[in-house]
Amino acid sequence: MTRLDKLVSMGSGLSRTEAKKAIRQGRVTVCGRKVSDPDMKVGEQAGIGLDGAALKVPEYVYIMMDKPEGVLSATEDKSQQTVLDLLPEIYKKRDLGVAGRLDKDTTGLLLITDDGSLNHRLTSPKSKAGKLYKAYLDMPADQSDKEAFACGMQLSDFIAAPAVLEINESDPRECLVTISEGKYHQIKRMFAKRGKTVVSLRRLACAGLYMDPELGSGGFRELTDEEIAGLFDKCGLKATKKISKNC
Ligand code: URA
Repeated sequence: MTRLDKLVSMGSGLSRTEAKKAIRQGRVTVCGRKVSDPDMKVGEQAGIGLDGAALKVPEYVYIMMDKPEGVLSATEDKSQQTVLDLLPEIYKKRDLGVAGRLDKDTTGLLLITDDGSLNHRLTSPKSKAGKLYKAYLDMPADQSDKEAFACGMQLSDFIAAPAVLEINESDPRECLVTISEGKYHQIKRMFAKRGKTVVSLRRLACAGLYMDPELGSGGFRELTDEEIAGLFDKCGLKATKKISKNC
């Protein structure tokens, strides 16, 4: 159960103060009945109306973003732009988090959600959700790199689990890497161990979810129900209802 003013704010983009005012003015209905108490507790599945139109208040939101270079994978920062700064106000009323951070200079698939269970499953050290990256190196990768990645690799503080390295035959500086963990700077550190520097890095997929090529740098959209179900399935979570239903 959630406070009505919070749900109205989440579903309409109004500030909490504006939502309270709208409720007190009798502009809000719950299950078709006019209400006036902003503090009233309402189930996420209750049908809420504002000025006669049904509000969609998803319990959780799941956003895919094509993270641009130079933006932090954080929810707030005093001096630098974060991925949340790229989202419209309506999402900022939620307790959003980034499921699997990318370095400031890494681009590509970023999942942003307020669903703590999914976030936890995707980012926990035990998570085996595969992540696919495209890396461009300062020098060509070769068969010995492939074998080293496949064997797992001792880094300064942990042993990286076996990873799959695919090398582009026509440009061996370009590689696809699939890892099952998400440790800090993992890809860059694995290549560094092989004496190679990652010049650019882009995440293409995570837990079976592929970057939507239509988004473009800095673009975002909510996941489809099928995409959410796919992620839940990969993480061993039960699917829940995404959108509030009318009474
Ligand atoms: N590995 C890295 O080195 N950096 C990232 O941003 C993601 C994976």
